[in-house]
Amino acid sequence: MSSESPAWQVDIDAAATAALAAVTEATDLAALREVEVAALGRKGSVTALMKRVGTLAKTERRAYGAAAGSLRQQVTAAIETQRDQIRAAAIAAELDDDTFDETLPGLNPARGHVHPLSRVRLELEEVFTSMGFSVLDYPEVESEFDNFEALNIPGWHPARDMQDTFWLKSGHLLRTHTSAGQVRAMHQFKPPFRAIFPGKVYRYESTDASHDHTFHQLEGLMIGRHVSVGHLLDSMRTLLSAIFKRDVQVRLRPGYFPFVEPGFELDISCQVCGGDGCSVCKQSGWVELLPCGLVHPNVLRAGGLDPDEWQGWAFGLGLSRLVMMRYGVSDIRLLLGGDARFVEGFHAGA
Ligand code: PHE
Repeated sequence: MSSESPAWQVDIDAAATAALAAVTEATDLAALREVEVAALGRKGSVTALMKRVGTLAKTERRAYGAAAGSLRQQVTAAIETQRDQIRAAAIAAELDDDTFDETLPGLNPARGHVHPLSRVRLELEEVFTSMGFSVLDYPEVESEFDNFEALNIPGWHPARDMQDTFWLKSGHLLRTHTSAGQVRAMHQFKPPFRAIFPGKVYRYESTDASHDHTFHQLEGLMIGRHVSVGHLLDSMRTLLSAIFKRDVQVRLRPGYFPFVEPGFELDISCQVCGGDGCSVCKQSGWVELLPCGLVHPNVLRAGGLDPDEWQGWAFGLGLSRLVMMRYGVSDIRLLLGGDARFVEGFHAGA
């Protein structure tokens, strides 16, 4: 070392020699990490040297700072190089190993996909939002009021027998239909508005191929002025054509639901035979799809709306039923049965 070298140069050089030697000696990643911490960590040897700059005379600081900085850089670079070498050596060792066969196919991670119920629901949500509907999510645990009374079904009403109910100890219930969201929506929005609320509903009944205790519906509700059966029919025709992506004939038959007046069962032309008659439509050319009707004045009142000013239509689409029709599922219990073999039949494109 030349005689003009400042006194601290010795320390810098010593630190460089020690750190670089330690790096070379570290032959696995854990050891290298230890060396890195010992040199560059908060209490590391190089860090300590960097901090020393503050103790030096002003005239020396610049030169010292540069030397310490370049020490730090040198050690950092050496560590990076060593790390790359260790990794490369590990891969080379694996490839060298006779028991390793790089031509074997790798493990294919299993790909998930959406459940057919979700897929159809998402598709319908898209159709409805494109037509200006909001998509709402309401509780599955409901009050007796929202599920029944507000919908013109008082306790004594025989219509309660149409929907066997899971009652909770609290006096609440598991909603028996998505219509339970109707008055909630009326309170939530200022009319005019249109919304759908898809979701799970529950019925306390024995199960068979076409009945499950848990299934999915999609409620549609539109509130406006001067809404008539003509609007209802026209809206349904448009919606169903959008859903089935072709012109769909619809017909209404009278249907009784206490919360609509008049109430209807809506049939669509059979999508399998096009209306000529087949086993799916029992040779009639028509398939029952959804109940609907004009919102009953009592329901509007329960929702805080004046029936002289506002009217509306509502429908309750059986989402589970639609999925079954679409994919030819013959037993509703398969949908939520949790059998992976069933859902795996619905990978993209199915
Ligand atoms: N909520 C009714 C049911 O589940 C269906 C329905 C909805 C009927 C809206 C008319 C209007 O049976």
